[in-house]
This record gives sequence, structure tokens and C-alpha cells, in this order.
Amino acid sequence: MTLWHGRFSQKTNNDAFALNASISFDQRMAEQDVRGSLAWAEALHKANVLTAAEHTQIQAGLRQIEAEFQSLAFTFNPDDEDIHTAVERRLGEIIGPLAGKLHTGRSRNDQVATDFRLWLLDHIPALDAALNELQSALVERAKSDLSPLSSGEGWGEGAIIMPGYTHLQRAQPILLSHWWLSHLMPLKRDQARLAEMTRRVAIMPLGSGALAGVPYPIDRIALAESLGFDAPSSNSLDAVSDRDFAAEFLFVAALIGTHLSKLAEQMVLFTSAEFGFFELDDAFSTGSSLMPQKKNPDPFELARGKAGTLLGYLTGLMATLKGLPSTYDKDLQEDKVPVFAAFDTLIAMLPVLAGALQTLTVNPARMEAAIDASMMATDLADYLVAREVPFREAHAISGEIVRAAIKKGKPLDALSLVEFQKVNAVFDQDVYQVFDAQSSIAKRAAFGGTAPDAVKAQIERAKEELKREK
Ligand code: ARG
Repeated sequence: MTLWHGRFSQKTNNDAFALNASISFDQRMAEQDVRGSLAWAEALHKANVLTAAEHTQIQAGLRQIEAEFQSLAFTFNPDDEDIHTAVERRLGEIIGPLAGKLHTGRSRNDQVATDFRLWLLDHIPALDAALNELQSALVERAKSDLSPLSSGEGWGEGAIIMPGYTHLQRAQPILLSHWWLSHLMPLKRDQARLAEMTRRVAIMPLGSGALAGVPYPIDRIALAESLGFDAPSSNSLDAVSDRDFAAEFLFVAALIGTHLSKLAEQMVLFTSAEFGFFELDDAFSTGSSLMPQKKNPDPFELARGKAGTLLGYLTGLMATLKGLPSTYDKDLQEDKVPVFAAFDTLIAMLPVLAGALQTLTVNPARMEAAIDASMMATDLADYLVAREVPFREAHAISGEIVRAAIKKGKPLDALSLVEFQKVNAVFDQDVYQVFDAQSSIAKRAAFGGTAPDAVKAQIERAKEELKREK
């Protein structure tokens, strides 16, 4: 029997019932539903709606249901429309008609919004931990690739260098460690976003009734506290219709997906034979059923692909919420599937990416070979700036040198001094020092730059923050 059968003289059409039912996905909130009901029973008792004896019986029944869920002994019935129905139905089987008193003053509208928020509050920490784990992998890589020759001591000695890109064109030499850390920073911001949005998840709708509030003297502040919420919602109409927290979660998930996809795309490129910067461990790559030689970066391609799926979850829910009349509408039942799916996607993906990064092999020779003298053209301009040439003019002169080198078909540092001086008389024998990638990197020592000491400082800060997070 449904929770609402009284008004109906006919049974729901089977297909309509199946369409309406949410049990297939909202049973994930079983634990939260029971916890919410335990707190509600206590609030009803304190408001003198339930006697102490009734409260005790209801509590015992709910505890038994809790244990049944934990031991997987709970069985669902075909006519359990949703998790709220299933719990109330089972409570009736255990304690009899008294179970019918539990729903006094409560609606599934405030109940489901409460369960859903509790579920997120319970699960955000796992996502936070997975983000931490991936950041740790990035920091460890940054650390080992900054000092590949020695551990701990001699930071920056023998540090691996690589071409840095803009527009996917070779731009300036950078430290590989600096690049690893550039993928950590967005994840750190995502973590901060999760923590920040948690404050808005931690608002309790329970006690809003179907929409208009509760006609019993429920102490909602105490109720919120007993469930671990920061505060009760301030407007019952808003409380049963607000799904901002779900949309915010999906936004953060989509943004995490976007960040991972950017890292992933470069891992796909950099593991290709054309780049050859990295080789994935066998344990984190896959083969082809036809071409025996293939070693594919599937985890990263999937990360790139799933970013699209995650964005779809966000846009799907936003489209559902748009233009809904206040207050609760059944459309809102569409909120849970994308949130659960986004959570599952990230939880499945983050540890795999961390593992792939931890185990890959770097090919420093390929990275270094991809650095050519033209990437020091900015340093060449800075050479002129040190000799009192205004930067804009220096940029033009350096550009002319690049053009001359292209015309002669040789790298910048293969031009003779005479050829340099033909473009500008300021050039001297010491100009050739400019083309050393190591010293180009070392010069960028200001806070946040790619010089070894600046990168070391980033690593140490990142490690500090990760420790504090834990
Ligand atoms: N399964 C529903 C949901 O997820 C529970 C709330 C149902 N409320 C109602 N008035 N039918 O939204």
C-alpha cells in the first residue's frame, strides 16, 4: 500500500507506479532516512506528540531497521515506492500500528530534502579525501622530479626541465615539477569550494512539513543540532523546494572533471610517441584487441570523456530546476540520480589517476630535446633590456633575430656574432649564455615562478596544506 492510498479508489497503473517510484535510487539514502526518523521521533516526543513509551518503541523499531540495512538483511517490497515508504512499512511490521504516528507533522517533501542533504554531508569527506590523495601524488611527483639525483638535499640539482606551452606552441622552458604543481592548484581550489558549499548543505529542511510548516511545537534548532546540521531552514516554502546545494555540488563536480580533463589531455599527448615525455605503467594502461603493439592511456582518456558527462549532470539538473513553480514538484525527484552518479564517477576516477601519476616513468631526455633555442627569445629581449634597450624595442630586435635564424635555417644559438650584430650592435660574445635553458629557468625566481627555489617553496606550502587538510 502507498502512503497516500486513502483518497484513491483504484490501484495505480503498474507502469505509472514504476515511473513514479524512486526506490531504485533513493535506497542509497536508507541510513540517512532512518537517522532523520530517529531525530524526528525524538522531536515529536519532546513536543508531547509521542509519549515516552511510544517514543521508545518507535526508536527500538527504527534501530532494528538500521541494523537490518547494515547487515543487508532488509528486504524491499515491490510496492515500496521510495525509501521513506519502505522504512515506514517495515516499522509497521515490527511495531504495529504505532508506526503510523511517526509521520505526524512530517511530509516526504521535508523528509527527502533532509535525507539528501544528510547524504551529501556524509559523502563529501570521501571526495575531499580522494582529492587530497591525487594532490599528494602530484606533490610527490613534483618533489622527486625537482631533485631526481638526490633525495631531500640538493633541491633543484638535476631537476627535470621541459618545454612550457601556450597555444600548444613551445613557449618557454619550465621545470617539470612546476608543471605538476600547476595541476595541483585547481584541485586545491576545488577542495575549498567543497568545504565552502558544505555550509549551505548543512541547513535542515525537516520541520517544514509539506510546504507550510509544522503545527506542533517542534524545537527545530535542537532538531537540527541532533542531526548534525548547522541550523534549521528559515522558510518552509523555500526549504522543500531548494536544490541549490545539489546544483552547487554538481558544479563543483563538473569543475573537478574539467580540471582532471585538462591534465588528462596532456597526459594523452605526452605519452604519445610524438612527445614521448612519459610512459604509463602497464598497470595503468590498456591494450588493443587487434594491434599487439598498442599501449593506450585509457584512464586519462576516460577522465577527459567523463568531464563531459559530469557537465551534463549539472546542466541536466539546472534545466530541471529552471522555471519550477514553488514549492515541491515531483520534478525534484530527478535531483538524486545525477548527484549520486557524479559522486560515483569522481570516486572511481580520482584514485586511478593518482595511481597512474605515481607509477609513470618520465623521459627527461625527450623533454629536454624538445627545448630549442628560440624558446629563449624572451631571455634574449631581457639581455637587451639589461643593456638599457626599452623592452618593446628589445622585443622587436629579438624578433628580428628569430626571423634571421628561420631564414638561415638554423637555431638561434647557431647564428654567428656577426649575424647578431648585423641586427643590432648591442650584442656581444656573452649573448650565447642566454640560450641556456637552465639559467632561463633559474632567473624566474620571483614568488610563484619556475625557478627551483620558487618551486621548492610551492612544494613545501602544498605539503603543509595537505597535512593540515588531513
Ligand atoms: N521520492 C520523492 C523525491 O525524491 C520523495 C518526495 C515525494 N513527495 C511527494 N509529495 N510525492 O522527491
